[in-house]
Amino acid sequence: MPLLPSPRAKMPSFRLHEQKSDDEFEAIVDCENAGYATPFNGFWEVLKGPSVDGLVKRTAQWHRDDKSSRWVYVTDEETGECVGAMEWNFYEENPYSHGAPELIADWWDEGTPIRKLSDYVLKAFLKDRPHIMGIPHAVISYCVTRPTHRHMGVGTMMMEWGLKVADKMALPVFVESTEDGEKFYEKHGFKVIESLVLDAPVPNQGIDFEQVRERLMPVPYFVMTRPLGGKSGPINDPKHSNGIKQTNGAGTAEPTNTISNGSYFQVQFVDCSFTNCHFNNCSISNGNILLRNEAPITQDPSSNQVNTLAL
Ligand SMILES: CC(C)(COP(=O)(O)OP(=O)(O)OC[C@H]1O[C@@H](n2cnc3c(N)ncnc32)[C@H](O)[C@@H]1OP(=O)(O)O)[C@@H](O)C(=O)NCCC(=O)NCCS
Repeated sequence: MPLLPSPRAKMPSFRLHEQKSDDEFEAIVDCENAGYATPFNGFWEVLKGPSVDGLVKRTAQWHRDDKSSRWVYVTDEETGECVGAMEWNFYEENPYSHGAPELIADWWDEGTPIRKLSDYVLKAFLKDRPHIMGIPHAVISYCVTRPTHRHMGVGTMMMEWGLKVADKMALPVFVESTEDGEKFYEKHGFKVIESLVLDAPVPNQGIDFEQVRERLMPVPYFVMTRPLGGKSGPINDPKHSNGIKQTNGAGTAEPTNTISNGSYFQVQFVDCSFTNCHFNNCSISNGNILLRNEAPITQDPSSNQVNTLAL
């Protein structure tokens, strides 16, 4: 018997594309439908609507109408199948300076339980964005790999593409991650800044509404962020010389520190009973701050004192 090489599964080879024409959305949406079905994602059920064709058209239209939107997708070189897709939005200015965006789920028929639930959860989902992402930033809006092609580096290819663009534009990155995506994003330098649950606890909507709610909700998710360039450290670390000096907690503010243009901080209050603090020229809360203008920051003596400010 001739010695045969041991049979080893051949790893598919992949290619990353940036979407250029509407035609490509059919394959992208097909990949999304397969990917968000495993594990089941109730929020995707809200977004996808009643028809695949309608979803393809809507996805293309939203992309065309939104200058911040860039889609990438990955194909299996052998089969040509789209096996992963990701939408990135890059905002050079705060997109929420006029408040939270409004999105009505008009792809569902008016008056139906699914329409009521969809309108409610979309509003709930978007309402926190100005508070959390109210700075110039990049956001990953959709990120999905076909279940048959997971753990092969497809997600990483699309992530690396977007992180390169974000770093070039000097933008921090956000994502509202599913439970399934959390470890993947952590691997790419993201940290959880808020844990939230999407649901529609609207009273007196009737049994049909409650049945839809039970099928799709609740959906736990994590707001995660990757600081500018993927770098973070204690803000009073000498390596981050633009940092705000830590206050001593005894009621006296430390001397003024001037924050340079474009300084970006991720702030988390630890061992404190409060989650935000007012400084002169700047209000700081758990989350993210990007300072665009030179601003002398001093702690407002009437405000809570910060004992520990760490990243
Ligand atoms: C999250 C997701 C996009 C990852 O895609 P992927 O193509 O499998 O990612 P990669 O192969 O590049 O994974 C890179 C690394 O991330 C980590 N990772 C990826 N998915 C993970 C998971 N479900 N659990 C734990 N770690 C995971 C692993 O460390 C992995 O390396 P490994 O395979 O050597 O262990 C994919 O699991 C998915 O489509 N999930 C369903 C849709 C979803 O929830 N998307 C996130 C929405 S915000």
